[in-house]
Amino acid sequence: MGKILTIQGSLSPQSRTAEVLARVHDCLTARRVEFDHLDLRTFDLMHCDGRDRAGYNADTQTVCRMIEDAQAYIFGMPVYCWSISGPLKNLIDLSASGMENKVAGILCNAGSPRSFLASADLVKILFYESNVMTVYPIVHTSGEDFEDRKIINPKVNRKIEAMVDGLLGQLDGRTLR
Ligand SMILES: Cc1cc2nc3c(=O)[nH]c(=O)nc-3n(C[C@H](O)[C@H](O)[C@H](O)COP(=O)(O)O)c2cc1C
Repeated sequence: MGKILTIQGSLSPQSRTAEVLARVHDCLTARRVEFDHLDLRTFDLMHCDGRDRAGYNADTQTVCRMIEDAQAYIFGMPVYCWSISGPLKNLIDLSASGMENKVAGILCNAGSPRSFLASADLVKILFYESNVMTVYPIVHTSGEDFEDRKIINPKVNRKIEAMVDGLLGQLDGRTLR
């Protein structure tokens, strides 16, 4: 089994995306699947400007290595302006070459349920830039799924399980390096 990296793409200290990812971690742990976690709040990432890797600070280089070392990703995507958050886009700009031909699951966390199509932007970016295939279902959450920042909608946990199983199925079917 290849290594899964979960990616938390919100910089908010009160992030709901982080809360959904914590449930993803519960699900992976219950299935005895090893994973690493990348929370963008805990790294001092520089903005991508196209320079060589060696020109970035140590945190940025560490994060790029984490992306390279993983075989699959679970992206926690906060919806900003109908699309992915700036910090998450910056991470992809910095590290897209390390993602090539891998697989990913997505959880897309918005304020409103009407914003669910924002996840299509992430699907498109990953596929066109790095040939990353995303699995379905995508886990969509919005404000009404939470109370005091905890998930209160049991459908969310069922979707998480289905997404994780879809990802594990894709990994099982691959020859891992
Ligand atoms: C700059 C900004 C833009 C946002 N744009 C949208 C949007 O287009 N659609 C939406 O449903 N929610 C939008 N929201 C709400 C966030 O998606 C929501 O607060 C979500 O919980 C953010 O994830 P987080 O709690 O992990 O930070 C926006 C929030 C911010 C701060």
